Amino acid sequence: MTDTPPPFRPKVAVYAGSFDPFTHGHADIMRRSLAFADRVVVAVANNINKKPLFTAQERVAFIAESIGTEPRIEVRAFDGLLVNLARELGATMLVRGLRAVSDFEFEYQMALLNRHLHPGLETVFMVPSNDTTYISSSMVREVARFGGDIGALVHPTVARALAERFASGPV
Ligand code: PNS
Repeated sequence: MTDTPPPFRPKVAVYAGSFDPFTHGHADIMRRSLAFADRVVVAVANNINKKPLFTAQERVAFIAESIGTEPRIEVRAFDGLLVNLARELGATMLVRGLRAVSDFEFEYQMALLNRHLHPGLETVFMVPSNDTTYISSSMVREVARFGGDIGALVHPTVARALAERFASGPV
C-alpha cells in the first residue's frame, strides 16, 4: 500500500508597501520573490499615515500593469494590520526590500513587531538589482514634481500618471 502524498500547500508571500508610486525597484523585488514563493500577493496599504500622491486604487492599477500576465502574482489594497491580511491569505512570509543600511533600523523593528503579532510569519529581506537599488518612491515623486526624467525608474503608465499629476506645476 502506498502512502498518500501530503496535500500541496502553496507558499504564499505578501509583498506589502505604500508603493506611491510603484517603481522598477519594487518590480525587481516582486519578481525575485517568485524564486521562493508559489504565490506573491502585492499588498497596497490604504491607511498609510503619509498622505499619498495616488489613491490605493490608482496604485493597485499601476502595479497590475507592471505585473502583466504573471499568474503567480496578484495585487490588492488592504486596510488595517498587515499580519491580519497575512492570516487571511494563509501567507507564511512577508517580503521587504533592503536598499541600504539606512533602511535597516525601521525594517528590523517592523519585522520584530510583525513576528510578535503573528509568530508564524517570517520576514524575508531581499536586495534589489544594482541598477534599481537607488530608486525610491519619494525621489521619483520629487524628480517628477520638478519635471525631471523618470522614464528609466518607473513603468510608462506610472510615468504618464506622474506627468499628468504635475502638468500644471508642482503640487
Ligand atoms: O512602503 P512602506 O511605506 O515602507 O510600507 C510600510 C507598510 C505599509 C508595509 C507598513 O506601514 C504596514 O504594514 N502598514 C499596515 C499597518 C501595520 O500592520 N502596521 C504594523 C507594522 S509597522
